[in-house]
Amino acid sequence: MPYAGLIERYREYLPVGRNTRIISLCEGSTPMVLAHNLGGAIHPKLEIWLKYEGLNPTGSFKDRGMTMAITKAVEEGFQAVMCASTGNTSASAAAYAARAGIKCVVLIPDGKIAFGKLSQAMIHGAKVIQVKGNFDEALTLVRRITETQPIALVNSINPFRIQGQKTGAFEIIDDFDGIAPDFQAMPVGNAGNITAYWKGYKEYREVGKVNSLPRMLGFQAAGSAPIVLGHPVEKPQTFATAIRIGNPASWASAEAARDESGGVIGMVTDHEIRRAYEMLAATEGIFCEPASASSIAGLVKLAQNGYFEEHKPRTGDRLRVVCILTGHGLKDPDSAIKSAEEPVTVEPKEEEILEAIGLLEAAGV
Ligand code: F0G
Repeated sequence: MPYAGLIERYREYLPVGRNTRIISLCEGSTPMVLAHNLGGAIHPKLEIWLKYEGLNPTGSFKDRGMTMAITKAVEEGFQAVMCASTGNTSASAAAYAARAGIKCVVLIPDGKIAFGKLSQAMIHGAKVIQVKGNFDEALTLVRRITETQPIALVNSINPFRIQGQKTGAFEIIDDFDGIAPDFQAMPVGNAGNITAYWKGYKEYREVGKVNSLPRMLGFQAAGSAPIVLGHPVEKPQTFATAIRIGNPASWASAEAARDESGGVIGMVTDHEIRRAYEMLAATEGIFCEPASASSIAGLVKLAQNGYFEEHKPRTGDRLRVVCILTGHGLKDPDSAIKSAEEPVTVEPKEEEILEAIGLLEAAGV
């Protein structure tokens, strides 16, 4: 049978019954790509693997949580779901709700979400409401409304979202034949995903699938770094709009993941994120969205600060790091176009093209 999505793959670890109607778009089981150009360049001691979550059906890791959240919302009889979103959650909720045949309402910060994500929520038929405020304000409203209305909340404070997203950790352990990587690096926004991965690793250890656990490395954008600063940020800023969040809902569990794993939650500037974003695309052929590149930017920073010197690899002679590339670059074409060299425009003539690519003399024209 063709692949049927992550709930089928990890059914025994998920709260679904034999008769549960599974709402799936065949998410999960994403590629793990060895960053052979970038790894050594960041630090010779590192072996960096890229978990390409942008290849999920709606282009981000949110599909892992959404297949569970929508499956359970339908099972519980809800006819509508709602979320606040910096873009990806709304795209995913809209798609899975469409597949389930239920309504979806999304609250997004006005003008602060990437265009690809907006287009997804719209084409899947969600009711898109732009709030003249930030994500944190939108989430507060969604929490309040779903408390009294017959609408299921599908943000990551919904525990089924975390259940679905924990399967990312299972896949990593399965890919490496039961050996945990030394580190896992990822962006942190509302902090649901770091919570979910940590839960997944711990559960896999409990059932004996793995003996050791990775250190969790989470990265926030410097203008939106409440966990690093130790207080909420009222007006979060960053061009990595996916993680433009000033008061993460899963703050405490993100800190627990950091502390229990002996990891770090750090911050990276927009400049550092942009460099990492460009480097990934230019040297590995991997196009992720800016927020996702903060995991690479964070590794660069830790490497420069000598962080990896004090650690010994679990296996082999290099430290194995898995970076979660949470969203596809096509989500945010504007950021790519702003980052890269502009195309040249020429007449439809061979010599003009050869000149543009610097081959005019070589061709002897
Ligand atoms: N990377 C991307 C591409 C995201 O869209 C998000 C969150 C994160 C990282 C951070 O994950 O919130 O679990 O810590 N996006 C949410 C949204 C907030 O609404 O799409 P987190």
